[in-house]
Amino acid sequence: MARKSKADKTPGDTGGPQHVAIIMDGNGRWAQQRGKPRLFGHHAGAKRVHEVVDSCRDLDVKYITIFAFSTENWKRTQTEVAGLMSLFRRYIRKEMQALHDRNVQVRFIGDRMALDAKLVGLMDELENYTKDNDGVNLTIALNYGGRDEVARATKRMARDVATGKLDPESVNEQTLTGYLDTRFLPDPDLVIRTSGEARISNFLLWQSAYAEYEFIDTLWPDFTPAIFAEVLARFGGRDRRFGAVDTAAE
Ligand code: FPP
Repeated sequence: MARKSKADKTPGDTGGPQHVAIIMDGNGRWAQQRGKPRLFGHHAGAKRVHEVVDSCRDLDVKYITIFAFSTENWKRTQTEVAGLMSLFRRYIRKEMQALHDRNVQVRFIGDRMALDAKLVGLMDELENYTKDNDGVNLTIALNYGGRDEVARATKRMARDVATGKLDPESVNEQTLTGYLDTRFLPDPDLVIRTSGEARISNFLLWQSAYAEYEFIDTLWPDFTPAIFAEVLARFGGRDRRFGAVDTAAE
């Protein structure tokens, strides 16, 4: 990808990121601070998802990818996992029409094999219902892990090599990119993690090679569209070089 310097911005280009990915962390602590069960925090977090996705159009964010459930989250208690799965089903049923009315196209990434059939059915329905929308692209990572994604992509690639559909000598970075769950997405420009933890936790490992990171202290249920706007404004001031040097500075 060619580097875009501040000088070659086109009119109307705000300098903001096209694709923002978010690790929504801190729901549990938010609930704990209020003496409530962890699921109370997840429900509050779901409200923020609604608001933050809604704000993308005004903030000029074309793609937003959110980490809803990781391949590691199965290690939580059975009560929390079941509560989260039920919350996802509820969110899809409740938000389907509103997302469509706001012209949002929704897609899911992650391994659907381990998810219950009812939830997978709703995920398919939401994707299908919003597939022709051309506003904001919302991608929800559900039972997603970056390493797992690369392993599943490699398995599909190996199958294509075995059946003669793919020449192993032709394999390059683009080939693997085309086998990933995210093949329909541009790479994220900015990855935000809330709650003060500075880790990427297996999120979009391949895709974030040149992403900028923002680790912010706010817990996810407190992450308002105003805070989102502030983070995006900071991004506008960063000089992204994609491994090149800034010739203008020489
Ligand atoms: C991390 O906080 C959050 C999650 C594992 C779940 C994310 C889910 C939501 C925001 C709910 C709604 C999502 C959708 C798509 C409807 P944590 O539980 O690890 O918090 P902690 O680190 O404070 O314990």
